Amino acid sequence: MSDLQLVNITKRFGDFTANDGISLTVHAGSIHGLLGENGAGKSTLMNILSGLYQPDEGEILLDGRSVQIKAPADAIRRGIGMIHQHFMLVPQLTVTENIILGCPGGLHLDMRSQAQRITELSQTYGLDVPPLARVENLPVGIQQRVEILKVLYRQARILILDEPTAVLTPGEIQGFLETLKQLASRNHTIIFISHKLDEVMAVCNEVTILRRGKQVASCATADTNRTELARLMVDRHVEINSRPEPQSTGNVVLDVQDLWVSTEHQVEAVRGLSLQVRAGEIVGIAGVDGNGQRELTDAIAGLLPAKKGSIKIHANPSKGTSKPFAYIPEDRQKQGLVLGFSIARNLILKAFTRLPFCRGWLLQREKINTNAHQAIQAFDIRTPTSQLPVGQLSGGNQQKVILARELAGDPALIIAMQPTRGLDIGATAEVQQSLLAQRTRGAAILYISTELEEVMAMSDRLGVIYRGQLVDMLDASTATLEQVGLRMAGVHTGVTREPIYSEPA
Ligand SMILES: Nc1ncnc2c1ncn2[C@@H]1O[C@H](COP(=O)(O)OP(=O)(O)O)[C@@H](O)[C@H]1O
Ligand SMILES: [Mg+2]
Repeated sequence: MSDLQLVNITKRFGDFTANDGISLTVHAGSIHGLLGENGAGKSTLMNILSGLYQPDEGEILLDGRSVQIKAPADAIRRGIGMIHQHFMLVPQLTVTENIILGCPGGLHLDMRSQAQRITELSQTYGLDVPPLARVENLPVGIQQRVEILKVLYRQARILILDEPTAVLTPGEIQGFLETLKQLASRNHTIIFISHKLDEVMAVCNEVTILRRGKQVASCATADTNRTELARLMVDRHVEINSRPEPQSTGNVVLDVQDLWVSTEHQVEAVRGLSLQVRAGEIVGIAGVDGNGQRELTDAIAGLLPAKKGSIKIHANPSKGTSKPFAYIPEDRQKQGLVLGFSIARNLILKAFTRLPFCRGWLLQREKINTNAHQAIQAFDIRTPTSQLPVGQLSGGNQQKVILARELAGDPALIIAMQPTRGLDIGATAEVQQSLLAQRTRGAAILYISTELEEVMAMSDRLGVIYRGQLVDMLDASTATLEQVGLRMAGVHTGVTREPIYSEPA
């Protein structure tokens, strides 16, 4: 049984301080939540503990004794195991091979007896895995269990899990949280990184909140609540889960009928999907990542061809709309922005060759700058100057640049793909407010997100996408989390459920 203490840990990257004098105690056998917005410094702190980074200052104590963790092997030797946000498994190897890889003897060990050991281990912890299946054939929820078994196999007493629930469906999350409790009841110490308040409140004994590299508070979860934690994370009061008031809707703006879309690798990603969005409503699409969301939005935006079916956008030009639709892409750094260009230039990216920004071959510098200043004001883009390269802005401010550009000219249809992904609570609320204002104006909005609570809160109607098909369209004001969660997992959908993996013979 070992208490773990971090004392005054500081970590700098160049002149940026990612961890600023952080001190916390994790009690043996407890579940300690590490909470903070994106970029708060959570992963950095845990990478120090697991030997990936060296701190610039500070000390790590195990059972009151100072220890040096110079490499991941040191951490493992001291019983510290980290399950990273991005799994580190070898897809072509089996579960058993992945678990024993890197252990003394490694792949020369007798597979059959190792598989037996792993089965026993998995039964002890309720972490069911098929020991001989290849990892690439397993759903992510099961791959995660493999990662956990891998550190248990190495006899870790302290388990660090970095945003483990980000990849799971709501149903899987429930099971996962049970696993955490099970591990703690067997005297494992858990550090659970999350930015989801519910989950932290549900399983953690104690919680530490980081904000911009600083430790804001550490306390028992029994002594706090969601609202207080949210406030501590962002240092101002935020409304969570505010639902838009119902409003009357207009004509159909987006009309998708029996759409089939294949990926560039000819995998059928959207399979016979129909959907309509009317002026003045937000239609949400919930679903686990990779169920056809990307191909659906790319097809609507004209980036991927439809194999079959139709997509019609009815924009009424007499209303003065200058472009039919706005697209807020999923990956703003790859699709939405040119990082090396200034804010001002990114704001006119699509209008580059049009009046009033361009006359002949000359860019109208003054018009471009006025446009930029107006956008910076209207969308509260925090920057010292409109000439700053977009790559130097925070994620939230980059997203505001995209919104400012895309929402200019009052588009009739807005396709928002994970518009708050990676943003902190403050920036999330601002993005959501902008979209709600567009809805009030009468825009038709398709809002796609893997964050179930978010998409439920933002939508008037809510569809669930599962394996390329739309299962159900629900009234978002009456739908329950459980209803939607089951559909996301492919249960109660009417869609035939194919086996997700099969054991090799
Ligand atoms: N290897 C690195 N080099 C430079 N900056 C980094 C590095 N790792 C993290 N950072 C920066 O440190 C900050 C904290 O990052 P991180 O610990 O990943 O946050 P969190 O896990 O809370 O989202 C971020 O601003 C990030 O850009
Ligand atoms: Mg992180």
